[in-house]
Amino acid sequence: MQGVYLPSKVIVGLQWGDEGKGKIVDYLASSSDIVVRFNGGNNAGHTVVIAGKKYKLHSLPCGVLSSKRALIGAGVALDPKIVLSEIEEVKKSGITPNLGIDFKSHVITPYHRALDALQDNALGKKGAGSTKSGIAPVYSDKHARIGIRMEDLVEAKVLREKLKDAKQRAERISDSDIKDCSEEYCAYGRQLKAYCTDVATELNSAHDSGKSILFEAAQGFMLDIDHGAYPFCTSSNVIAGAVCTGAGFPPKKIGKVIGVAKAYTSRVGNGSFPSEITDETASNIREKGGEYGTTTGRPRRIGWLDLVNVKYACMINGVDELAVTKLDTLGGFQKIQVCTAYGHDGRKLPSFPQNTHIFLECKPIYTEFEGWGELKGITEYKNLPENCKKYLSFISKFCSVPISIASVGPGREETIPLTVTKL
Ligand code: GDP
Ligand code: IMO
Ligand code: MG
Repeated sequence: MQGVYLPSKVIVGLQWGDEGKGKIVDYLASSSDIVVRFNGGNNAGHTVVIAGKKYKLHSLPCGVLSSKRALIGAGVALDPKIVLSEIEEVKKSGITPNLGIDFKSHVITPYHRALDALQDNALGKKGAGSTKSGIAPVYSDKHARIGIRMEDLVEAKVLREKLKDAKQRAERISDSDIKDCSEEYCAYGRQLKAYCTDVATELNSAHDSGKSILFEAAQGFMLDIDHGAYPFCTSSNVIAGAVCTGAGFPPKKIGKVIGVAKAYTSRVGNGSFPSEITDETASNIREKGGEYGTTTGRPRRIGWLDLVNVKYACMINGVDELAVTKLDTLGGFQKIQVCTAYGHDGRKLPSFPQNTHIFLECKPIYTEFEGWGELKGITEYKNLPENCKKYLSFISKFCSVPISIASVGPGREETIPLTVTKL
């Protein structure tokens, strides 16, 4: 497709993560040349199901499974052991990853993981309930300008020096002897050296020569460090704007933003969740939807779709199109609730709460919908039950964004492309 203008697309999660971004990225990867991760680390868990086989990726962009050029930008934090094990897993499936890792991406060490666990355990319910992957400490070091980057990992002398400093810092904080990991990390550096590249230059030249780029966000809007539910969030920016900083790709080159929202809500970790439900319906949704963390295996908290959250996320991400996933999971429920406003202190809030303690106290105001039957085997919009179509239409109108994809199962083939006029 050289020479043809193909707009770059950004896939973002609009809720608390686990919306099905991996599945949507995989679906769109076949018509893209490059797939790029630009934020977060292996706190992410993206599941792709191809011909009945399940792949779980934490660090590699899902496009690697379609044998596309897979790039990891400067905004990502990498645990080299996990990257290498994912490369091996992919190779076992008969695919040789065509991977590039930015020299400027940050490296997670055992010290970061230890500090993450220490900090998160100490905070208890006051903390986000982190994945203990080392995310908060690695991004803290980045912003304190003392981080270790891929450029250091592949230079043994520099790496040893930086690891020595990091070990001393970790010992001061944790008050214990920390194991030296320099030999292990030098070995990782040797294995990963061949993948290191200048991602920003490659992406910009690819775009300028007419190639199609797909950006794959990790996490979801509510976990964004600036715009999410701070402090019950992650430590990177996860919104579409983070493509510019996390991949070195300018805003004017972003063609389209596709926001992924689940037909209900799930969340792992602590903190506010206005539309959370904890009754039998929640357990039924959890079991039917397989709502257990891809990264930690924790049961996900369940709630109804929160359109106050999704609409606000559409605004900040500049969402052009929505992909609504897991409509099949809601199949068979008699009544379905959708949170369409927040109540606080006996009044309806006029806008999205800007204050953490108000958000924690918000009560959902629901609009009720009639349910629909099982969606198994449906591959065309026209065959969706009327109540399901009404649900989609309501979401689209509420958010003022067209829906371009409806997902009715984890498999590639269980994906229904929509045209705006059908809603
Ligand atoms: P991500 O982090 O946003 O990529 O999402 P996860 O992979 O962590 O979690 C989404 C889960 O739902 C995965 O197990 C997917 O295979 C699955 N999934 C995605 N879309 C659908 C869908 O439309 N229906 C069903 N039943 N499962 C889906
Ligand atoms: P994907 O990309 C769901 C949550 C954690 C915790 C908080 C902080 O699969 O959607 P961290 O380890 O980042 O310091 O944890 O953020 N969290 C996620 N929840 N999906 C994710 O990623 C997440 N990444 C982080 O559970 O509450
Ligand atoms: Mg996930």
